[in-house]
Amino acid sequence: MNYHETLEPRVLKHSFVSRLFHWGLILGFLPAAITGFFIWMKPFSDDIQNLIMQIHIAGAVILTIAAIYYCLFGFARIVAFIRRIFSWNERDIGWLLVGGGYPQKMLLGRTIPVPPMGKMNSGQKLMGLGMFLGGIMLIVTGWVLYAFMPVAPKVATYWFDMVHLVLGVVLGLGVFMHIFLGIYNWGEFLAMFGDGTQPLSQARHHNPVWVDQEIERIKTGTVSVSGQRTAG
Ligand code: HEM
Ligand code: HEM
Repeated sequence: MNYHETLEPRVLKHSFVSRLFHWGLILGFLPAAITGFFIWMKPFSDDIQNLIMQIHIAGAVILTIAAIYYCLFGFARIVAFIRRIFSWNERDIGWLLVGGGYPQKMLLGRTIPVPPMGKMNSGQKLMGLGMFLGGIMLIVTGWVLYAFMPVAPKVATYWFDMVHLVLGVVLGLGVFMHIFLGIYNWGEFLAMFGDGTQPLSQARHHNPVWVDQEIERIKTGTVSVSGQRTAG
């Protein structure tokens, strides 16, 4: 980090409670996604399959506790997230049509013009929609299967299992794409896994509409920093 960077105002992008919940997703959703794949394919002996099922449920418990914690202590952040993932306009169509410029950049080394984005780009909104709606269905179907498998009517467990399987595999594969892009966009990675802030210039580059329309300058002690009063 150079001298200029240390002086540059920083923007709060991910509040503490959101970063904590993201850790809940890593420690809960990720093990559940990986073990779910093995529960489906059954490649191992019965003993190992049983262990894998136990790890699946441990991941499920972590994910469920993290979700309850986020509902209790990050409710405003959840509302902001829902508002963002359900807000679409013509810029999103333009963004999706060029894949956010990522294929051109990654495969051809070319930078093309991309419609300006708010706090989340259209790809993140799509993933957010899938993770939010699909995640709730995974948690509900998962616990019903776990608790009522032996007693529930066969037809009900069949469909719950089917929904759980399809969503689990689709979202499980989707999350690996997300992890790749999360690491590729190193500045975003540092913000999510650091103190939640990033340099204003970086936010202006990735999220110009958000910077122009939503963030506010706040005072911390005697130093003026740019950020949001309520990180979202
Ligand atoms: C959070 C609460 C969750 C609970 C309580 C849960 C519970 C279960 C249970 C009991 C099974 C066994 C079903 C059977 O024997 O057919 C199962 C299977 C599976 N789970 Fe989960 N799960 C949860 C979350 C997840 C997540 C987050 C994913 C992936 C992202 C996932 C993916 C899968 C997959 C792919 C299977 C295999 C389904 C099959 O072979 O039919 N689960 N889960
Ligand atoms: C080590 C694994 C992971 C890495 C490196 C990672 C990276 C990131 C980064 C950098 C962001 C911020 C994106 C931005 O502001 O531009 C983010 C946001 C997010 N992550 Fe992850 N993530 C990981 C695991 C997961 C898992 C397992 C889930 C489970 C569903 C998840 C769900 C989300 C969601 C819903 C968001 C907010 C929407 C978005 O900004 O894309 N992440 N992640």
